[in-house]
Amino acid sequence: MLDKLEPLPADTILGLAAACRADPNPDKVDLTVGIYMDEHGVCPVFDAVRQAQRDLIAQETTKAYMPPAGDEAFNRGMQRLVLGEDSAVLRDGRVGSVQAPGGCGALRIGAEIIYAASRDARVWVSDPTWPVHFPLLGSVGLSFETYRYYNPASHGVDFDGMVEDLKHAVPGDVVLLHGCCHNPCGADLSLEQWGVIADMAQQQGFTPFIDIAYQGLGDGLDQDAAGLRLLVERLPEVIIAASCSKNMGLYRERAGLAMFICRNEANAQALVSQALVAARRIYSMPPAHGALLAGRVLADDELALSWRTELESMCVRINGLRRDLRQKLEASSGQDFGFIEREKGMFSFLGLTAKQTLRLRDEFSVYMLDSSRINVAGVNARNMDYLAAAVAAVL
Ligand code: LMR
Repeated sequence: MLDKLEPLPADTILGLAAACRADPNPDKVDLTVGIYMDEHGVCPVFDAVRQAQRDLIAQETTKAYMPPAGDEAFNRGMQRLVLGEDSAVLRDGRVGSVQAPGGCGALRIGAEIIYAASRDARVWVSDPTWPVHFPLLGSVGLSFETYRYYNPASHGVDFDGMVEDLKHAVPGDVVLLHGCCHNPCGADLSLEQWGVIADMAQQQGFTPFIDIAYQGLGDGLDQDAAGLRLLVERLPEVIIAASCSKNMGLYRERAGLAMFICRNEANAQALVSQALVAARRIYSMPPAHGALLAGRVLADDELALSWRTELESMCVRINGLRRDLRQKLEASSGQDFGFIEREKGMFSFLGLTAKQTLRLRDEFSVYMLDSSRINVAGVNARNMDYLAAAVAAVL
C-alpha cells in the first residue's frame, strides 16, 4: 500500500533552509526561515525564558497531560499581551481561548471553528500571504479568495485595491489579516487603514481572522497590536491566532493561542467547547513546556520586564539592520531601497526576479525565497557588505 506514494518536493521555506545548511561555503548567508538571529548568527534563548526554565525544572512534579484548554497562566497572560491590559472584551468575558501547538495550531483551530460555523465560508487572504496559510486552512475544507495587498511597483500596500476587492466579502466570509509585520512583504496597514477595514467589516458583516505572529518586532508590543485592538473594540466577533515563537524565541516549543472574541460570554464558552472538540480530533491536548515557560514569564513582573527589555533590543536592532542594509544596497547598486527601511518586522521583498535569486544562491550562496523575501534578522555586520555586493552583481 505505502510503496505507491511518491516523494513530494520539500517545503518552499524549510527546504531552502536545509539547502543552506548543507552548503559548505563559509560565506553563505541564510535569509530563509523567519527566525531572529543575533549578531553572531545565533537564534538566542531569552534570559527570562532561561530563568523560567530553571525554575520550572526545579519545581515540576509531573508530566501528566495538560488541561485540554492549556495552561491558565499562559492563556491569561497572552490574552492581556495581545488584547491589552485594560481590554473591555476581557472585562466583559467576551473572550474564549485555547492554547495551541504554535501559531500554526492556533490558525488550524480557528479554521476548524470557521468550518463548524459555516462550511461555505470563504477565507479572503492577502496577495501575497504566508504560503502555509493555504494548506493550514484549506485542508479543513475552507475555500479561498484573494485580495490585492502588496504593490511591487510602489513597494507598499495597495490599499485601494484591497478595499475594492474586500467589497465583495459577504456575511459568513472571513478576512485573514496579518496583525503586524506582514509575512512575506513587511508592509503594514496604518491605523487609519485598520479603521477603514473595521468600517467595512461592520457594514458588510464579514469576520476578521487575525494572524499575529510577530508582535513586538515591528514598532513595539503595544504599537504592533494597535490595529488588532481597534478591530476588537469595534466588532462583535474577531478570531485571533497568536504565537510566542518569535517574540519569546520559543519556536521549537510550539506555544500559541487561539482566541475568539464573541458577542457575549455564553458564546465565548460555547466556542471554547467547540475548539476543545476540534483539538481532541487532531492532537488531543497542547504541549506543556513552551506555554509553561511563557506563562511564567508573563505572570512574573521581574521576568516580564527582562523579557520586554530584551525583545525591545531585538526590535531596535532589526530596525537598525533595515537602515544599514538600505544604505549598503543603495551604495552598491545605485538603486532605491528606501522601502526596506519603511517596512516592518523580519521580512521584506528585495524586488528581485526568481532568476536573480537563483543566481544569488548558485553563485554567492546567498539564500532567500524565490520571491526575494529575505529574513532581515539573518543579516549582520559580518555578512552585510557581502550580501549588498552579491545583490548588486545580479541586478
Ligand atoms: C517563515 O515564514 O519563515 C516562518 O513563519 C517560519 C515558517 O514556518 O515558515
